[in-house]
Amino acid sequence: MAKPISFFFLLVSSLTLTLTLIPTKGEALDQGFLGNKKEKLTHFRAYWHDIVNGQDPSSVLIMNPPKNYSSTGFGLVRMIDNPLTLGPKLSSKMVGRAQGLYAASSKEEVGLLMAMNFAFFDGKYNGSTITVFGRNPVFEKVREMPVIGGSGLFRFARGYVQARTHEFDTKTGNAVVEYNCYVLHY
Ligand SMILES: *[C@@H]1O[C@H](CO)[C@@H](O)[C@H](O)[C@H]1NC(C)=O
Ligand SMILES: *[C@@H]1O[C@H](CO)[C@@H](O)[C@H](O)[C@H]1NC(C)=O
Repeated sequence: MAKPISFFFLLVSSLTLTLTLIPTKGEALDQGFLGNKKEKLTHFRAYWHDIVNGQDPSSVLIMNPPKNYSSTGFGLVRMIDNPLTLGPKLSSKMVGRAQGLYAASSKEEVGLLMAMNFAFFDGKYNGSTITVFGRNPVFEKVREMPVIGGSGLFRFARGYVQARTHEFDTKTGNAVVEYNCYVLHY
């Protein structure tokens, strides 16, 4: 008999806790959380370096595609910690890293699922992130992918990126991709 009763009280007290955390009015949330901040649009460009070869790759193979999908690579998975630089050269200023993974998710073409966080190290954006999650048919000239969230200065972020291949080295497999990012945030 004691057990069901204490379980009931636990339930009630956790319910009370949840309710007290939720403000009763919309204004309370706005004032307490965002102040009078207005939503703004930030545009920036970074070059994404997928380094698959050499002693210190930034992109490592997790899984090869099954043999009969080798033409589109369907099934391939790579984990990345790719440098993001201001200019197209790897030696140009590094502003952050693209951390996450991409996977070949199309049977009919070379099409990737990108799931990555852009973690910024530079200036006022140091410590802030945006999350890019979308479809990347790599042979198309411009690939658009959603920005689905962010942290730090990019809290409440939403927007999109446009990716254009700047350079692809068929010998090494290394790629440099230009990312233009358009992010709404507060
Ligand atoms: C790949 O191989 C599997 C197992 O042999 C088969 O079921 C599947 O249809 C094949 N797919 C293609 C695209 O050939
Ligand atoms: C970014 O922030 C970290 C942690 O606070 C700090 O160690 C680092 O020096 C900062 N980098 C820049 C470029 O401001």
